[in-house]
Amino acid sequence: MDALLEAARDACENAYVPYSEYAVGAAIETADGSVYVGCNVENANFSNTLHAEGVAIAEAVADGHREFARLVVSAAARDGVTPCGRCRQTLAEFCAEEFPVYCDTGDGLREYALGELLPDTITPETLGVEE
Ligand code: THU
Ligand code: ZN
Repeated sequence: MDALLEAARDACENAYVPYSEYAVGAAIETADGSVYVGCNVENANFSNTLHAEGVAIAEAVADGHREFARLVVSAAARDGVTPCGRCRQTLAEFCAEEFPVYCDTGDGLREYALGELLPDTITPETLGVEE
């Protein structure tokens, strides 16, 4: 877990956040133990902004992964930031309700289950798609 937290914190360092100055880093571990990281990448039009968690998942999927074990998210502020609604939905595409999401409070990790962060959402199962 320490390595995943360190990876998320390191990813914060690369965040491109000239507008919000709120750096976020995420590290996701795949079922086979690989780690992918992401940071937020803002844009002058604001709405093109990429979120750290979305970048991490997209990198993993682009590399052929679809099964995930856990995710750590950290803000440079070390304020226990949790994934936003959009990122929660992105996670729900690939991860079950029990999937653990760890949020960096600065003096520890607060653990949530994905289903607690986003209960009863639409998933591939809802649409009859087997993952
Ligand atoms: N942000 C993330 O990277 N992940 C989230 O799920 C929450 C929000 C970023 C977007 C924006 O660059 C900054 O944090 C402030 O909202
Ligand atoms: Zn988000």
